[in-house]
Amino acid sequence: MAFIEASSPHTMNTYGRLPIALSHGQGVRVWDVNGREYLDALAGIAVNTLGHNHPKLVPALQDQVAKIIHSCNYYHVPNQERLAAKLAELSGMTNAFFCCTGLEANEGALKLARKYGHDKGITRPEIVVYENAFHGRSIATLSATGNTKVQQGFGPLVEGFIRVPLNDIEALKKATEGNPNVVAVFFETIQGEGGINPMRVDYLQQVRQLCDARDWLLMIDEVQCGMGRTGKWFAHQWAGIRPDVMPLAKGLGSGVPVGAIVAGPKAANIFQPGNHGTTFGGNPLAMRAGVETIRIMEEDGLLENAANVGGHLKAALASELGGLPGVKEIRGQGLMIGIELDRPCNVLTTRACEAGLLISVTADSVIRLLPPLIMNRAEADEVVERLVPLVKKFLAE
Ligand SMILES: Cc1ncc(COP(=O)(O)O)c(C=O)c1O
Repeated sequence: MAFIEASSPHTMNTYGRLPIALSHGQGVRVWDVNGREYLDALAGIAVNTLGHNHPKLVPALQDQVAKIIHSCNYYHVPNQERLAAKLAELSGMTNAFFCCTGLEANEGALKLARKYGHDKGITRPEIVVYENAFHGRSIATLSATGNTKVQQGFGPLVEGFIRVPLNDIEALKKATEGNPNVVAVFFETIQGEGGINPMRVDYLQQVRQLCDARDWLLMIDEVQCGMGRTGKWFAHQWAGIRPDVMPLAKGLGSGVPVGAIVAGPKAANIFQPGNHGTTFGGNPLAMRAGVETIRIMEEDGLLENAANVGGHLKAALASELGGLPGVKEIRGQGLMIGIELDRPCNVLTTRACEAGLLISVTADSVIRLLPPLIMNRAEADEVVERLVPLVKKFLAE
């Protein structure tokens, strides 16, 4: 079958797509409809935790599909309780609400923060957000996002956000000084779309202390950097802190759409019946995917693998590219790696695809690698072999 039509007349024109369509995958490899093979160093943007056609996940999902796919939240869904309990165990938090996407989890977190304020008598609650943040594309989450390109054309934006720079505790204190309406601080531990920008460990600890001192909610968006990607279940755990609210999605269902708002004691009882809900959220198929993804990650030691293979991959990239003129920084943790160049390099996505490698470029000049957490060292070496010559050639142009 010949693919690809140059344009898609019936789907909305929202994506600049590469001219391939993927038909199937195995492990960290995928094939397009013309039979061409690619090494997957993107995992559907940090989604395919277990890679493709995982021998333990696929039979579990097949079993679930044959039993019941969807029931709805009028009834109990036993795996909701199982997945919530597991997320509580892994995070040290207590309760979860399930939805389908990252923006939906974030939207719910923003509602939680506002209601937290209202319950305390704050009728115009304000939430601290960050430069270069990305939280989604609903009206509220795009307002929280720190990228004017995402916001352009969709005003008026939702009010009640205070924006601060990353890793600057004094700036945070100054921006909120004497403001009794602040209810929460909201950020990604490692900004994904913003260019793989980590919050420093000492900053995370300082913000936690400040939130405690001021009675604010600490809300950490782990949609992209969470679920084992950095080598811990959640990236903020590297700083030994615990948020009050943690939106999750992407890797949680290894490809089946699942999102969650995980909450600790300070936020777990804010929503009461009628305050929040969603038809598909926590449905039996999605919950089975979440339960099995975590079970398989534990059985197969994928946190350790993400840390080991990620460290190996970053070191190999640093030895090949570090210090080259045009390479500003190679950063990230585990299998969330960014290579920042000194110029826009979006064209590398297409060139990598032509060379049989799936990657992305974000924030215009950051090559982003988010491979499945099952990737081994030999496969990571292959990523380096395919990527490095492309980057060197590009920088020499
Ligand atoms: C940190 C973060 N939050 C939220 C989102 C939005 O998730 P979704 O696309 O599932 O709505 C993304 C997506 O890239 C993200 O990276």
